[in-house]
Formats: sequence, C-alpha cells, structure tokens
Amino acid sequence: MAGCARAQNGFGHDPADRSPAVNVRLTVALVFAACGTLGGCGGVQSALAPHGEHASLVAGLSWTMFIGAALIALAVAGLTLYAMFGPPERRARFLDRKLIIGGGIVFPTATLSALLVYSLLLTQRIVPDPAGENTLRIEVVGEQWWWRVHYLGAEGERAFATANEIRIPTGRLVEFILTTADVIHSFWVPGLAGKLDMIPGHVNTLRLKADKTGVLRGQCAEYCGGAHALMALMTVVDTPEEYADWFDRQREPAGEPNEAPLVRGRDLFLASGCGGCHTIRGIGADGVIGPDLTHVGSRRTIGAGLLPVTANAMADWIASPDHFKPEVRMPPFGGLEADDLDALAAYLESLK
Ligand code: CUA
Repeated sequence: MAGCARAQNGFGHDPADRSPAVNVRLTVALVFAACGTLGGCGGVQSALAPHGEHASLVAGLSWTMFIGAALIALAVAGLTLYAMFGPPERRARFLDRKLIIGGGIVFPTATLSALLVYSLLLTQRIVPDPAGENTLRIEVVGEQWWWRVHYLGAEGERAFATANEIRIPTGRLVEFILTTADVIHSFWVPGLAGKLDMIPGHVNTLRLKADKTGVLRGQCAEYCGGAHALMALMTVVDTPEEYADWFDRQREPAGEPNEAPLVRGRDLFLASGCGGCHTIRGIGADGVIGPDLTHVGSRRTIGAGLLPVTANAMADWIASPDHFKPEVRMPPFGGLEADDLDALAAYLESLK
C-alpha cells in the first residue's frame, strides 16, 4: 500500500516495479553466500577435502548427514507453508492422526535409528589397522603455542626433531603419539582425520594412512591459552620417494655455512644465546625449550604457521615475536643491530 501511495505521489518507483531486479540481486547474493560457504569444503584445512581413507569416511558421513538434514528441512518447510497457505479443504488433511503419528513419531524414530546404525558401523571402520613393523611413528608434543615433533627410528629411538611441520608419505600407516608439555591441546589435521586431544600425563595415539599427496593445514582444536588460534601445524603428504629423501636430509646435522654473512649469522646465533633455547645439530646449540631449528629453512612456515620462511620474515620474528604472537614465550631480540639481525636471519633461512 505504501508503495502504491508513493507511486501515485510521484515519489520514486513502486517497489513492485523493482521486485524482479531485487529478486535477481537477492538470488545472486544468496548464490555468492552459498559459494562462500561451500568454498570452505575445499582447501588446505577442510574435513571435506580428505587426503586419506579415514578422512574420506568422515567426509562421507558429513555429506550424508548434511544432505539428509537439508532434504528434511526443505520438506518440513514446504509442508509448513502448505499448511499455512494451501487450499483450506486440502489443509484439513494435516489433521489426520495417522499423518501426525507417522510424520511426527515413526519417521524421525526410523530415520534417526538408521543414521545411528550407519554412523556406528562407519565409526568401526575408522578404527585403523594395528601398528606393525612398517608403521611410521611420530611423536607430537603440544606446547604453548607450537608443536614439537620427534620422528622415531626403526628401534623406536628418536631420529630427529622438527617443529610445526609434519611430513608423511602416502600409502604407509602412520602412528601419531600425542602428548602435551603443559595444558590440553588438540591435534587436528582435518584433511587426514578427526581431532584427538593431547592431555597432560596421558598418551593418545592416532593412526591413519594418507592416500593423496598435498599440503594440509592443521590447527590446535582445544583452547589452550592466549595464542591458541595461532597454533597451526603444516602437514605435507609426499610420495614415498620424496618422503625418504626428506627423512634422510632431516637426519643430517646442519650444513656448514659457506659464505661470510652466513658464518657471521651462525656465530651471532651462538653468541646471542639462541642456543640456550634452540637446538641446531652440528654447531653445538642444544637448547630444548623452543623449536629445533636444525633445518628450519626447509619448512614452509615459522611461528607455527604464522610467517613464511624468508630472511625478512625471520628477522621480523626475531626482533619482535610477540608482535606476531601475543604472549609467545620467546623474548624479543630488538636490541640487535640491523646488520646482525639480517645475518642471523639469513643463516637460519639457509638451514635447508
Ligand atoms: Cu594448543 Cu589450542
């Protein structure tokens, strides 16, 4: 009515005239919103972009639940609208007792029971094979707010340590041995498996097998203090050959720097006391408080997924890590001369 009045008064357009255009715009906006939402179904950190058998089962279960719920929601909405606006003589059918019992009790009971049985059977299949001789075993320790990673050798000994990045090969059973150094964290690489808590005084194990190469992002999934949201874990799934090469390289100590600025960087690392917290195998730095940096230059990120591995980013991080990660345990080294900072960063970046 208001629209009609305005049109008659000569003010603007009648909203009714614009409604097709508005409808189109609304539809486009809804489609974009849906695309944005579904965009989360792909990418590096999505349970709906599985890289392994277990993640595929979880993704299948999620899709079944989602599609089923959407269909039922649509049906209920349709019936509700029909009950409200349908022809009166037909609407009366909704009063039928059989329909109420069938749609209100029998249908939900049957559907939910079927889903329960389906998910229980599926969950049983998610329980992986027992660990065997060829199982790759990796210890992951949650720390505030980063991930300490130990790769275990054939005898169960610690072969080498890394941090905030995990590499695994396709086609091989991997057992993650999950613990924590402080509070509860939760190990979660959505593309590989469901999440599993890391609990003080307790060891949890997660076994899985990846079947597709790629780079995945994991994230701590349990609130563990101030920088919880900045506790990411890169996971690279390699072919078995690439993985074997990587494993052999990681076992090696850090290479000897072969250029003057890098030598200076190494000397600064030792002289500045960095070795009190960090290990670099081969140069006599054996601190265990912070991440092992022996091959830090070969990783994809520093700061647990925060910054790329470039000399500039390293320098920024060393000068003021708390700028990037509030409450971080590493103190800022802003007192270093710019030249020294650059040499130190260049050295670390060279540790491939
Ligand atoms: Cu660690 Cu949240």
